[in-house]
Amino acid sequence: MIQTNDHGPTFNLVAENTSYVMSVVGGVHLCHAYWGPRIDRPDPEQLILLDSRSNMVSEEIDPDLAGRHHRFWRAPKESLSDRRQKPPDNRLAPDRLAREYPFEGGGDHREPGLRVRHADGSTTSRLIYAGYEILDGAAGPEGLPYVSDPPEECRTLRIDLDDPVSGLQVSLHYLPLPSLPVILRWARIRNRSTVAVEILRAASMSLDLPAMNADVITLDGAWIRERIAHRRPLRPGVQSVESRGGASGHQHAPFIAVADGEAGEETGGVWSTSLIYSGNHRHLVETDQFGGIRLQSGINPSGFAWNLPPGEAFDTPAAVLVHSSSGFTGLSDAHHRFVRRWLFRKDWRDRDRPVVLNTWEAHYFDVDADRVAGLARRGAEIGAEVLVLDDGWFDGRIDDTKALGDWTPDPGKFPDGLAKAAEEVRRAGLEFGLWVEPEMVSPRSRLFDRHPDWVIGAPGRDPVLARNQLVLDLGRPEVVDHLLETLSTLLSSAAVSYVKWDMNRNIVETPGPEAMHRYMLGLYRLWRTLVRRFPKVLFEGCAGGGGRFDFGSLAFMPQFWTSDQTDALERQRIQFGSSLLFPPESMGAHVSAVPNHQVGRSTPPETRGLTALAFNFGFELDPSKASDEDRRVFARLSELYKAKRSLFRSGRFLRFLPRRGPSFDEGRPEHHAWAVIGPEGRELMVFYFAALAQPNDHGFHLRLRGLDAGARYRDEERNVEFDGAVLMARGLWLPPAEGDYRSAYWILTKSP
Ligand code: GLA
Repeated sequence: MIQTNDHGPTFNLVAENTSYVMSVVGGVHLCHAYWGPRIDRPDPEQLILLDSRSNMVSEEIDPDLAGRHHRFWRAPKESLSDRRQKPPDNRLAPDRLAREYPFEGGGDHREPGLRVRHADGSTTSRLIYAGYEILDGAAGPEGLPYVSDPPEECRTLRIDLDDPVSGLQVSLHYLPLPSLPVILRWARIRNRSTVAVEILRAASMSLDLPAMNADVITLDGAWIRERIAHRRPLRPGVQSVESRGGASGHQHAPFIAVADGEAGEETGGVWSTSLIYSGNHRHLVETDQFGGIRLQSGINPSGFAWNLPPGEAFDTPAAVLVHSSSGFTGLSDAHHRFVRRWLFRKDWRDRDRPVVLNTWEAHYFDVDADRVAGLARRGAEIGAEVLVLDDGWFDGRIDDTKALGDWTPDPGKFPDGLAKAAEEVRRAGLEFGLWVEPEMVSPRSRLFDRHPDWVIGAPGRDPVLARNQLVLDLGRPEVVDHLLETLSTLLSSAAVSYVKWDMNRNIVETPGPEAMHRYMLGLYRLWRTLVRRFPKVLFEGCAGGGGRFDFGSLAFMPQFWTSDQTDALERQRIQFGSSLLFPPESMGAHVSAVPNHQVGRSTPPETRGLTALAFNFGFELDPSKASDEDRRVFARLSELYKAKRSLFRSGRFLRFLPRRGPSFDEGRPEHHAWAVIGPEGRELMVFYFAALAQPNDHGFHLRLRGLDAGARYRDEERNVEFDGAVLMARGLWLPPAEGDYRSAYWILTKSP
């Protein structure tokens, strides 16, 4: 809901139980006033402090206006500070002003949202409020991922800011989601002058929160260790996370949050921003000289510039803004519901996800028609529903030194072609899926021989090889057109119902500062066209595991290979952190062989299975190499997954252990627990994982949350009934773990 009033004017964006308030001060400055629990009568004078005491810069404003604001901020008559206080003055310190889209050259020396080099070389701008309009529906940025097919009626607020000297116009777009505490925000920068300008920085969002005792939350890591949750206190200055390699990256998820110091899983305020974008990003929190907090995210300005000719516009990616006043659970609830209801393509909303058997850790590059058919047959016995033929299937691909770009089957490995291979897989009762890495080319390939100039790089320099491959320049329309045709032919050549889309290296050199963003626009055109042409195909994203797992990817591909890490213990941490943003059914989670191929650890089959079960469940092993007992466990867990997958993709995901939420800085936790609670709390499944056995262990209680205290919950398997209040106050009893890497689960149904 968008409420407006003429006082300023003032805008109150009501998104479920939250309010996001902006107001125009003095007819000129569009200021951020408030973001938090819903308020219905926001008074900008009570919300916006017009501070005049700052860092040696201030400008004159109307004394009446200053007086109206100041009366809310005066000390009581008798107090010491009142006696010392001078009468309110009519100056305004831009360094303290919460501009909704801060710009360079306006006296605000914190991180600007906008930085433009004008034709005369100056980088000074001044954005003045020019008007607003309320548009029906979800108006998104051109060529970039956004919500499509909104599930409910919605409206977009557009606020225009003008720079009268340069002729630049910035239009800020806001979409408050009616029944979620989520606001989508992006900006359009239009050049209405007669000369070109260069955009050096254009944030998707920027806003200022008042000083508070707070922590910064980020999701960080590396390849095979993505999105580990980190929490650290706010410090003076800037704390930021970013990526520079052409993708959102393994190192830092495109996300940052400020959590009040007391926030935990259930309680406390959290404010977050996360881009719907898969390219270079920067997410930052800046604490200013008085403790005020700036939250900002957008395309990484490092290495970026955009030439904007007269009459043209530049759109930033959209940011997803979430406020939770119920801690990290509220934060992940909001993100999960947003992804499920608004971001997934319509075809894949409310759809169960199949059990995948992927060939990679079973055979690596050594795949062929017989192996694929054999895997499919054995996969059927453990409950697999799709056989995904990973890397190694195309012409000449015996290792990672060649053939990327030549997307035809290897005649030696698949003498009867892919259609026949798919047929054999279907004969075994499974669907057929295929791995591709279309953005890449091997120097030893037919494609490279034909088009060596299609590779992205800096003029006059040899591009750096990584994993023996080069990156195609998707910023060039002819490259995207070629890939569209090649992939359309490939996907029509056999019964392919599943595609795993990989991307296995960073971009190093570029022809110029626009190249990385142009690459993303090309990639999004490719994805958009392809998913429209093949609406029934289920696309899984991948980038060396989770190197491009973000809302930009999920807008096209409703699931992502969470990480190349398949060890159960490591996965528990990765899934725990990832669950702040992504719903479980979007996170590929496969049971692999032991000793684990990444860390060499051997964990029991049940623990591997249960670690993956509530997510996008599948296998990454050769079942014929597992023992009969292990195969029985796998088959049983597949059945359990199929019985419960609707619960997993529609329920609330709750993290129970470690108890303090994202706080892994304190060291490696010993155990994890989570649960999925179905609609109306009628059914839930609780998972518990212990790492190492503890000496002299006497067991302990796992306290649950999110239950109905007045209800009773039945555990059929154990033939007992629990009291809801007791489960939340005392918990489920966990007997001492015998041996390392143990796990347990409970399925509880509410008694009528
Ligand atoms: C990447 C992916 C793996 C696998 C290999 C194939 O590393 O993350 O799952 O597909 O590529 O080369």
